[in-house]
Amino acid sequence: MNIVLFGAPGAGKGTQSALLVERMRMKQISTGDLFRAHVKGQTPLGVKAKSYMDAGQLVPDEIVISMVEEVLEDQQDQNFILDGFPRTVPQAEALESMLKRKGLQIGRALFLEVPMSELMGRLTGRRVCSSCGATYHVTAKPPKAKGICDLCGGILEQRKDDHEEVIQSRLDAYTRSTAPLKSYFADRGMLREVQGMGETEAVYARLTQAMK
Ligand code: AP5
Repeated sequence: MNIVLFGAPGAGKGTQSALLVERMRMKQISTGDLFRAHVKGQTPLGVKAKSYMDAGQLVPDEIVISMVEEVLEDQQDQNFILDGFPRTVPQAEALESMLKRKGLQIGRALFLEVPMSELMGRLTGRRVCSSCGATYHVTAKPPKAKGICDLCGGILEQRKDDHEEVIQSRLDAYTRSTAPLKSYFADRGMLREVQGMGETEAVYARLTQAMK
């Protein structure tokens, strides 16, 4: 089954997607990761996206939509997770028509429910491996050796948009543009709300249950 995984910044979309990739052999399509790769590579798309990302604003719909359309062009049989897309109602409408054209379907839109009061701490404490992209947290999921990735020995970094002011803008953008997607997916019978608090494994168990 193909799924949409959505929720506030820091809700755990990336953490849960990594588990689904490892255990269910799904393919993760993360628009945030795709943009960061473009920014790193200084591609024309990366240059366009960077100023929005640095300010914690959403990249304009038309840019995101054409990037996802290109990725879905290569879609084979492997089930996929759309992590962080769609993030606005126009993106959801564009997704619906692009899936129809390609003969693809989304089985569930899974919403990770985490209270706003939890998110700032999750995001300011996040550290990401500069080499393999693995995600840690300074207190909730610390690496064995400070600043070093357990998996590949890479250096852990703080994302540029994981600072308080930018996080606040991201949370505002979420409330304004992404939260309304809940009723969009509910109207189509696709929405399942999953409690995102608690141990990562407990969240994973609830998420996979909601996919049945
Ligand atoms: P993106 O990278 O998608 O950022 P985001 O949505 O803000 O989500 P995050 O990656 O910050 O959080 P997450 O939910 O994946 O949490 P994680 O698992 O890492 O997008 C970045 C930017 O790109 C956007 O601001 C925008 O500019 C642009 N963009 C991307 N897509 C776009 C779109 N569709 N339209 C327009 N613009 C777009 O977890 C966070 C932390 O919490 C980690 O440290 C983790 O270890 C910890 N944690 C995870 N689970 C738990 C748990 N159960 N308990 C305790 N801690 C936990």
